[in-house]
Amino acid sequence: MSAKSKQNACIALSLGLILILPVACGQHSTDAEALQAQVTRLQHQLDSAYKPGLGEFMSGIQVHHEKLWFAGKAGNWKLADFEMGEIKESIDDIRQFCADRPEVASLPMINPAIDSLNAAIKESNPARFTSSFMLLTTTCNNCHKVTKHEFNVIKVPDTPPFSNQVFAKPSEK
Ligand code: HEC
Repeated sequence: MSAKSKQNACIALSLGLILILPVACGQHSTDAEALQAQVTRLQHQLDSAYKPGLGEFMSGIQVHHEKLWFAGKAGNWKLADFEMGEIKESIDDIRQFCADRPEVASLPMINPAIDSLNAAIKESNPARFTSSFMLLTTTCNNCHKVTKHEFNVIKVPDTPPFSNQVFAKPSEK
């Protein structure tokens, strides 16, 4: 290659870079803008997504607290164990979805009652079940007191909550 054509090739290459670079950079910035727009859109979707409140989780716990009592009283330990699992799940959900509520800091006070009930169910022990259930109910109320919801009083239920569910242990045939 002659010195002249080398020089020409060099000029052509430089021109090429000058032409290509802005195009490539322009491409990057439109990609980033599109990505940012997508992030903003997703953020809006997240902000407006339905999220149950603490009161709704509590209403769920209320039902399981009630069913737990009738399951345990009927000696249906498998159902009682299931209801304990539901209560535990609601507590985990409160921790995850209601982390912005200061009351969540008081949640661990429920753990001794939960442990005690789990032990009673494992032992199929009616007396221990009853005393553990009393402890659980007292703890519900203690937490309502410390979180300024003392007007919300929980008690041992009188009648089964639903007429369409059998609490007695199904007979094993
Ligand atoms: C962290 C402490 C804490 C514990 C433990 C707790 N609660 Fe609550 N509970 C609250 C708070 C705070 C509210 C008010 C929620 C709100 O602002 O909507 C509440 C509300 C409730 C409500 C009212 C819901 C309604 O709309 O009527 C019920 C029922 C309830 N709790 C049942 C229970 C039961 C049953 C237990 C025990 C198994 C329990 N709670 C344990 C803190 C607690």
